[in-house]
Amino acid sequence: MTTESHRGAPPVDPTTTDAWARLQTLADGFEPDLRAALADDDWVRRSTLDAADLHVDLSKNLVTPEVWTALRDLADEVGVAARRDAMFDGEHINVTEDRAVLHTALRLPRDATLEVDGQDVVADVHEVLDRVYAFAEKVRSGEWTGVTGQPIRTVVNIGIGGSDLGPVMAYEALRPYHHERLECRFISNIDPTDAATTLQGLDPATTLFIVSSKTFGTLETLTNARLCKAWLLDGLGDVEAEEAVAKHFVAVSTALEKVADFGIDPENAFGFWDWVGGRYSLDSAIGTSLVVAVGPERFAELLAGFHAMDEHFRTAPAEQNVPLQMGLLNVWYADFLGAQTHAVLPYAQLLHRFPAYLQQLTMESNGKGVRWDGTPATAGTGEVFWGEPGTNGQHAFYQLIHQGTRLIPADFIAFARPAYPLVDEHEGERVDVHELFLANFLAQTKALALGKTAEEVRADGVDDDALVAARCFTGNRPTTSVMAPELTPSVLGQLVALYEHITFTQGVVWGVDSFDQWGVELGKKLAQELSPAVAGDDDVAAQQDASTRGLLAYYRENRG
Ligand code: F6P
Repeated sequence: MTTESHRGAPPVDPTTTDAWARLQTLADGFEPDLRAALADDDWVRRSTLDAADLHVDLSKNLVTPEVWTALRDLADEVGVAARRDAMFDGEHINVTEDRAVLHTALRLPRDATLEVDGQDVVADVHEVLDRVYAFAEKVRSGEWTGVTGQPIRTVVNIGIGGSDLGPVMAYEALRPYHHERLECRFISNIDPTDAATTLQGLDPATTLFIVSSKTFGTLETLTNARLCKAWLLDGLGDVEAEEAVAKHFVAVSTALEKVADFGIDPENAFGFWDWVGGRYSLDSAIGTSLVVAVGPERFAELLAGFHAMDEHFRTAPAEQNVPLQMGLLNVWYADFLGAQTHAVLPYAQLLHRFPAYLQQLTMESNGKGVRWDGTPATAGTGEVFWGEPGTNGQHAFYQLIHQGTRLIPADFIAFARPAYPLVDEHEGERVDVHELFLANFLAQTKALALGKTAEEVRADGVDDDALVAARCFTGNRPTTSVMAPELTPSVLGQLVALYEHITFTQGVVWGVDSFDQWGVELGKKLAQELSPAVAGDDDVAAQQDASTRGLLAYYRENRG
């Protein structure tokens, strides 16, 4: 197939649309007034939407009804809905790799059907899911034992990028649902410290490794898998290597022949498909460690949550469509109001890895400078996503969000019910700590929106002009509040799918292929080329640029 034939229609250049011109005009004279907006119950009511179990308050964003209309018109003019439908239907919208993009098929119910390239993918998905569930049940019940006959106590997932961040994020998020005998650990970095410290204190006889790699060709993962195999065989002592690997190693991959080459029995391998991008793979067999930790029933609830958000994105009208509107808002901030970054601030300690997970999802997807037809991007793409759980962030970087010179749109995420309800009894008072936490969540978005005027600062008794200035808050700092009753598996699935579809929406507006990641290739290749130089090959070292030569020389002098 030639590149032309799978490329399909070229992207619409968003900057040539009527809506873009209107947005530009609106942005030029834009004077937000969140104090006025938040005094208007009707504005807040119209700006608050529900999507599955998520309750999303968009009222503290720097938009007007005219901006909303123009953003939705922009979505129409660039064809977001048509491309969304093409994705759900399994068309090859990952044009640079000529692949379907079907993470949404991973969470279709068992009785659904979806034929892609002549194959019912739903049947395939559930066949693998059933195998993963059966395996997980055996580990959980103790029926699956190590080679010495002891039940498994620790599952170590070896993977990187999407083969790590999704499982570790969700494992942390669903801590209250963990099996009590089993712990999961995660090795990702090729820094040997990661393997060394993660394996510390583990008993090889009760440790099971899951090698997770879509390609089964990733240097970090294969190196770590070999280190773990050596650690296992060394620790077990006098056992047959093949027998030990059979009981202590399973794999998840699309490249099952490479799994067999590594020495893992294909019986102990779980497949998936090239239409699942690495950063969209948590809900495939890549989630096996999570299934072991929380059990098949909870994992099925997670999938149902993903599916509920998919259905919302697929069917809700534009004015009610939360992922669509959040994606369009991000375009407004990035391309019209000059935002370079976007903060995600979960008021839930359990979501402490969620911002890191979102960094891969959003930045590997939309960090592109060319569009899917190979022409340069015509607008700024891919904001920097970052964040930390509240309230820790409040005592670290919120200062800049409140009073700095940069515009930083932020999503605040909180739950009505705590995972661990605790009461602080102190000097005769009882304080529900989750309520104190939520008061912070509310206070921060309110402070960012409303700010504090010089008059209000003076009313606090400050009269020195310089001090008044230092204590003023401009307000009009945009936030979106996302709430749900509780962080259940289903709600976690909904949250992840929400951000997947936000990312998708932005990608379509910008006309980029949100499903390839060529930007990681060059570094990988150069690392392989440089590895002999690091190991002491003077000829290879001599061919390097001056800076690389200097750093190599420093390494050699100091390696000890
Ligand atoms: O960073 C590039 C990347 O391909 C990611 O997209 C992917 O999640 C990660 O490497 C790991 O790849 P694999 O699962 O094939 O080992």
